[in-house]
Amino acid sequence: MPLPKAELHLHVEGTLEPELAFELAARNGVKLPYADTDELREAYRFQDLQSFLDLYYELMAVLRTERDFEDLANAYLARAAAQGVRHAEIFFDPQAHTSRGVEMATVVEGLWRSLGRGEENHGVSTRLIMCFLRDQPAESAMRTLQDARPHLDRIVGVGLDSAEVGHPPVKFREVYEAAAALGLRRVAHAGEEGPPEYIGQALDVLGVERVDHGLRCVEDPALVERLVRDRVPLTLCPLSNVRLRTVDTLAAHPLPAMLDAGLMCTVNSDDPAYFGGYAGDNFDAVRSTLGLSEERLRELARNSFLASFLEDDEELRQR
Ligand code: ADE
Ligand code: ZN
Repeated sequence: MPLPKAELHLHVEGTLEPELAFELAARNGVKLPYADTDELREAYRFQDLQSFLDLYYELMAVLRTERDFEDLANAYLARAAAQGVRHAEIFFDPQAHTSRGVEMATVVEGLWRSLGRGEENHGVSTRLIMCFLRDQPAESAMRTLQDARPHLDRIVGVGLDSAEVGHPPVKFREVYEAAAALGLRRVAHAGEEGPPEYIGQALDVLGVERVDHGLRCVEDPALVERLVRDRVPLTLCPLSNVRLRTVDTLAAHPLPAMLDAGLMCTVNSDDPAYFGGYAGDNFDAVRSTLGLSEERLRELARNSFLASFLEDDEELRQR
């Protein structure tokens, strides 16, 4: 029995496995520039975040209808459930779809056809978090927030993702103020490739409750002290960090030192179809390569529920 856990850092578009990509391409008459799934998998050798994002956005061309988004989410929930995920807080990137002429309603309602029945069909409760693409103008994020207003019964919060360096959190101050005024929870990617200052900004300017990645906090002892003191959850993604070369090797990942420092770490999969593993695979990898004790693994699993947006009673039921 895999350890029950919550997944707090998961891009639904990053769960698009090559087989499903080809199936959807055929269904929608989209021509992919790869002969087959083997050739596509060959392209999964990334130099950095941007080289991954280029492929990630390219493959989204196959996602067109509500049914596509429903199938994508169902495939993820089935895999996640098999690896012990009981609760998932799932990111999606509306601008990557609306910019291709796919409407917000198609994306949200399609995902909801699956996620709304996640508990019933897969034993996984879910929340949906809408991310803004930080390499697009803040005005586009603001329009996206307005577009989402009819769907806010399906969306618990907002996040910030895509190319980090050169796009500091402060760029999105007004967007996050507007999101807070709408009662949305707030998270943001910070300190994945970007500097530790972006983590401080995400907390101070955007008012985030969790930091996605936050890996580079280790470069700033005063920031680490603050994150420990305030019990700020970090949603780490070890296999992602290896594939995007933000760490040299998994053996060199700072997770054990971060736990020893008292940081509230969680372990997640980010874009599992691209990075070689779902949530349980990430747990297995840190157990075997980093030698984390059973007690540490249980701490990571407990943190995942504590840092989730589940209500207290739901959280206790899950653990
Ligand atoms: N979008 C999907 N995965 C991402 C990641 N790891 N960092 C930033 N943006 C992303
Ligand atoms: Zn991410």
